[in-house]
Amino acid sequence: MQLATATHFDRQDPPIALDSRRRSPAKVQTPAPFMKWAGGKARLIPQIEPYLPQGQLRYGEAFLGGGALFFYLAGHDRLDTALLTDLSTDVHNAHTCVRDQPQALVDQLQVYEDEYLAGDADERAAYFYWMRSRHPAEVEMTVVERAARMLFLNRTCFNGLWRENSKGHFNAPHGRYPQPNIVQSARISAASQALQQAALVQADFRAWPQLAKDHGLDFVYLDPPYQPVSATSSFNAYSGGGFSARAQRELNDVLRELDAMGVRWVLSNSDCAFTRDLYQEWNIHTIYAARQVNSKADRRGDVAEVVVTNRRTGLRW
Ligand SMILES: C[S@@+](CC[C@H](N)C(=O)[O-])C[C@H]1O[C@@H](n2cnc3c(N)ncnc32)[C@H](O)[C@@H]1O
Repeated sequence: MQLATATHFDRQDPPIALDSRRRSPAKVQTPAPFMKWAGGKARLIPQIEPYLPQGQLRYGEAFLGGGALFFYLAGHDRLDTALLTDLSTDVHNAHTCVRDQPQALVDQLQVYEDEYLAGDADERAAYFYWMRSRHPAEVEMTVVERAARMLFLNRTCFNGLWRENSKGHFNAPHGRYPQPNIVQSARISAASQALQQAALVQADFRAWPQLAKDHGLDFVYLDPPYQPVSATSSFNAYSGGGFSARAQRELNDVLRELDAMGVRWVLSNSDCAFTRDLYQEWNIHTIYAARQVNSKADRRGDVAEVVVTNRRTGLRW
């Protein structure tokens, strides 16, 4: 497997309009995440945007996930350059494949879609659980097959949530959607074009001060797994291993280092006593996310989150 070695020089497909056998030519689309991601920020961007610096950015994103803010900024021509990192091999591999081998990925997804949709409800469920059981650490697969597996599972699992157990095995159940759109070639094409300007690195957040320096970045967005607001609401198992209170404190040390380097940053997290205390030296703003299980239009159904920045006198914003 060549996971960690994929670079700009490994590109095999030009980022042009892709097509799948069963659909008409791909339409030009605004770049957007190509995966539905637990904790994805797409719907919160209007509330985060006012806290971002103005102008063109030498941009970094330390917890990429679905990359909602990166795709938004790319779609608004706000980026001079970008460095996108995540600890997850699957997240890194999927973005690298979308950037470098979009047509091969679409072709592989088409195979999975054809096989899946050909079955009745029980056969589809069996196909999903067979695909889920093929863990990349245990079954040999190409980087394209690995990315296609991730997207297939993401598009057919319950609620589209990518969740892993403590062994790092994807464990969301089957979604039983009548006609899931598994290929989504136009979305992959638009994301691929946006990603051409990005370097992708599989990295722990602790590497960020050095990465920001090496890549000459002037702004970093950090969206870690959220600190649980209570002992029972631990909703941060995106990747095996979780994200401890100690990791949140170490992340605050990274924020201090970036600040000392003059790098502007914005961070998202849950709104709770722990985060209010942890970030007391920075600017803390409150935003509201719609509760997924409760679609009340008023604020009573919403969950408070914090947007934290190091905006201060002397730092261009
Ligand atoms: C809240 S999600 C990011 C969501 C993203 N902003 C979006 O809009 O889709 C958090 C991400 O942090 C990654 N992650 C978890 N622990 C990490 C670590 N120690 N270093 C870097 N990334 C980590 C997870 O793999 C996950 O993709």
